[in-house]
Parts: sequence; C-alpha cells; structure tokens
Amino acid sequence: MNLLLLGGTSEARELVALLAADNVDVVTSLAGSVADPHPPEGTTRVGGFGGADGLADYLRGQHVDVVVDATHPFAGRMSANAAAACGRAGVPLLRLSRPSWAARPDAASWHWVDSIDRAREVAVRLGERVFLAIGRQSLGEFIGWTDRFVLARVVDLPDLAVPPSWTVLRGRGPFRIEDDLDLLRSHDIDVLVTKDSGGPTDAKLDAASELGVPVVMIRRPAPPEGVPVVTDVADVVVWLRGVRRGAAGQRRRSR
Ligand SMILES: NC(=O)c1ccc[n+]([C@@H]2O[C@H](COP(=O)([O-])OP(=O)(O)OC[C@H]3O[C@@H](n4cnc5c(N)ncnc54)[C@H](OP(=O)(O)O)[C@@H]3O)[C@@H](O)[C@H]2O)c1
Repeated sequence: MNLLLLGGTSEARELVALLAADNVDVVTSLAGSVADPHPPEGTTRVGGFGGADGLADYLRGQHVDVVVDATHPFAGRMSANAAAACGRAGVPLLRLSRPSWAARPDAASWHWVDSIDRAREVAVRLGERVFLAIGRQSLGEFIGWTDRFVLARVVDLPDLAVPPSWTVLRGRGPFRIEDDLDLLRSHDIDVLVTKDSGGPTDAKLDAASELGVPVVMIRRPAPPEGVPVVTDVADVVVWLRGVRRGAAGQRRRSR
C-alpha cells in the first residue's frame, strides 16, 4: 500500500514509526516552511504540490493508494486541497487532527474568537503586556501594536522587522510548565493570545490558568466536509486496515 502522509506535525512523525511495523510504504510530505523541520524517519518529499490540481496529478503519477492528512489543525489550505485532490483522483483520505483544547476544564473561561482580527480586538481590551503564541506566519497581523509590550514565541524568526516594544523568543515545544510560569511572570504578561492547536498538554495554558492571565483563543478552521477525522494515531492504523480489507474484497469480486 502506498501512503502519502501530509506531515509537519509530531503526530505525523509518530504515525510513520507506527506504520513501519505494518508493511505500509509511507512518503511524508513537508511544506518546507521551517528551517529545521525535524523530518520523520523514512522517505520524505519537500515543497508544495501546486494546489489541488498539482496534488491530484501527484497522486495519479505516484500511484498513491491512500492519503492521511496529518498537517497542523490550522493548515486549512493544505487540508482543503487534499480533500479536493483525493475526490478528483478517487483516493481515500483521512484527516488526523490532534484533539482540540476546547475539552480542557479551563476552556470555558477563555475568550474564543473566529479570526485573528477578532483576537486583536478582544486582546486590546484585556491587557497591555501580551504573550503572542500564534506562530510566525500571523505575527504581521499584530505589527501595528507599537504601543504595548509583546512577547512573541516562534520556531523560526519572522522575516519582518518587529516594533521596538516587542521581544521575539525562539522556541519549539513541548515546553515545561515551570518555564512558562517563569516566562509569564518575568515579563509581567497580562493577556495570552494563541490558537487552538490542541494536543495532550500545553504549558502556556497551564501557566496562564495558574496565574489568572486571560486567554484569547482562536478557533480552528472547520475540516473539509465529508472527510473522516480521527484524533489518535492508533485510529489511523485501524482505518487503514479497513481500507485494505475493502480493496481486497473488491479485487476478489472483480475476479
Ligand atoms: N499553520 C500552523 O500553525 C502550523 C503549525 C505547525 C506546523 N505547521 C505545518 O507547516 C506546514 C505549512 O502549514 P501552513 O499553515 O502554511 O499550511 P497551509 O496554509 O494550509 O498551506 C499553504 C500551502 O503550503 C503547501 N503545504 C502545506 N503543507 C504541506 C505539506 N505537508 N506538504 C506539501 N506542501 C504543503 C501547500 O502548497 P501547494 O498548494 O503548492 O500544494 C499549501 O497550499 C504544514 O505541513 C503544517 O502541518 C503549520
């Protein structure tokens, strides 16, 4: 079975390790947008496909049997392209998306918003010393905040020049709660702006909760319609076995 894994996440790396024991040929695709992408074991390819049409051509050209979209929950364009391309090429697609933080006990106290614009509006009312944990790509949308202290944590430094009132910190999670408590305290943070990336734990949210720092949480984009979604890598293996059984049954019937 040839599997194309749309990656760039820790779940995608975990899945590669799990499938190695299951006799599946996996090619992990990375966007190439981070300097040090922590590539998974096994075969990788790097760079965009050229939209949904380019991906559909790739699926046919490489005889891909199944696609697992394990990109980040906010990689909405890639997920939409995967849904369109798999539909066109007749290739089964599964979305693996880590669990949302909406189920955390403190989630009801957060200020949930649907967009970065709305996050900016809400955060302005809540505080003047902001911890921005939204990734490098969206920092530009806050660049007008020259009148307040901003602590931005990113994996790679942004290309843009940030205002003098900002501090940009490089770091890649997972982080420790002690460190994030220290970070919020030492910078006197009074509001956290972040997005619902999800996952089993998150130190900044635990730290904000402990210190009573308000949280502005940007909701995830909705997954493409009609695409099955799982939140656990083990469920991908179960789904793949179902696809294999279905394909074997079809071969038997056509003999
Ligand atoms: N967004 C985040 O907050 C975030 C956080 C951590 C990691 N990541 C990872 O970073 C990558 C890019 O995220 P994004 O938010 O920029 O995505 P995006 O906005 O949904 O995608 C933009 C374009 O990048 C290309 N692309 C994205 N993921 C790709 C992949 N795995 N393999 C090949 N091409 C890919 C596609 O180009 P073409 O149209 O040319 O095919 C896509 O149209 C993803 O792999 C994602 O898992 C994203």
